[in-house]
Amino acid sequence: MTVALGKHLLSMADLDRVDIERYLDLASSFAEVQKRDIPKVPALRGKTVVMAFFEDSTRTRTSFDLAARRLSADVVNFSVSSSATKKGESLRDTVETISAMGVDGIVVRHASSGVPNRIAEWTDASVINAGDGWHQHPTQSLLDCFTIWQRLGTGDNGLEGLKIAVCGDIKHSRVARSNVEAFSRLGAEVVVIGPRTLFPPSFDGWPVKVEPDIDAVLPDLDVVYLLRIQQERLNEGLFPSTREYRAQYGLTTERARRLRPGALIMHPGPMNRGVEIDPEVADDKQAVVLDQVAAGVPIRMAVLFGLIGPGQAVDRNEFDRIEHEENR
Ligand code: CP
Repeated sequence: MTVALGKHLLSMADLDRVDIERYLDLASSFAEVQKRDIPKVPALRGKTVVMAFFEDSTRTRTSFDLAARRLSADVVNFSVSSSATKKGESLRDTVETISAMGVDGIVVRHASSGVPNRIAEWTDASVINAGDGWHQHPTQSLLDCFTIWQRLGTGDNGLEGLKIAVCGDIKHSRVARSNVEAFSRLGAEVVVIGPRTLFPPSFDGWPVKVEPDIDAVLPDLDVVYLLRIQQERLNEGLFPSTREYRAQYGLTTERARRLRPGALIMHPGPMNRGVEIDPEVADDKQAVVLDQVAAGVPIRMAVLFGLIGPGQAVDRNEFDRIEHEENR
């Protein structure tokens, strides 16, 4: 089966269940490539990808960079701190300037929601959202789905039958918005947990159950997905103290003991050890935080391949064909 994966990846709303499963399948192939002595394929030879990060990042930026290089693309790192943005150049002028040099993909991280969508209007290149404001972080969701699917997935049935809790600052989290969509689209039951002050005004339209009490659901979960608590939320008075937050919602060692054996503990990073997750829990064998990081490279290879690779309509056979040609 071949699936057209479109021109841009701006939101999980761009992907139906078949698209998501195709990306997971492609990422499995690229995960195999990663195990080779030379973990590189020529799939994007001649293509150029620009990393346009207007907001700090460790995991997303590094893994996109590695993914593009492992597909043999040319990679340009656009640095805001040393660019004409500092001289007051508008975002649109910056994008049009980069595009005029002939680029195939622009990976965008920005603190404002909707910026990748605007950029997609100003360029012929494929735009990939690497996290925008509170809005979306679609490749984080794909790598999270991949991590769960590899460990607990039910073959062709995605995440069917799994119960996943997303816990913490749902209101301000692009990861929560993307993951609720992704997990439920793959068939999981999704529960959101957290203080009311860190919930959006309404969950209308969200495919979730709302649970204010983490202790009520812990033993039933297949996955507990913790979100980072940001210092600025404390400054805004949205919860009394980090100590109080830990006591009410943190995955403490005592709470982690009540998880089922085999249940996964996940976090997108960076973690606040001792706030949303106890240090011992973060290092426990049930915590798959570094597996999530590792999944970032094959997932982002799959996304780059799917959007700017040959034909933009790809499947595992296309990947195999490129491999074969390279080896002749
Ligand atoms: N999870 C995530 O987006 O991390 P970075 O901010 O380090 O990219």
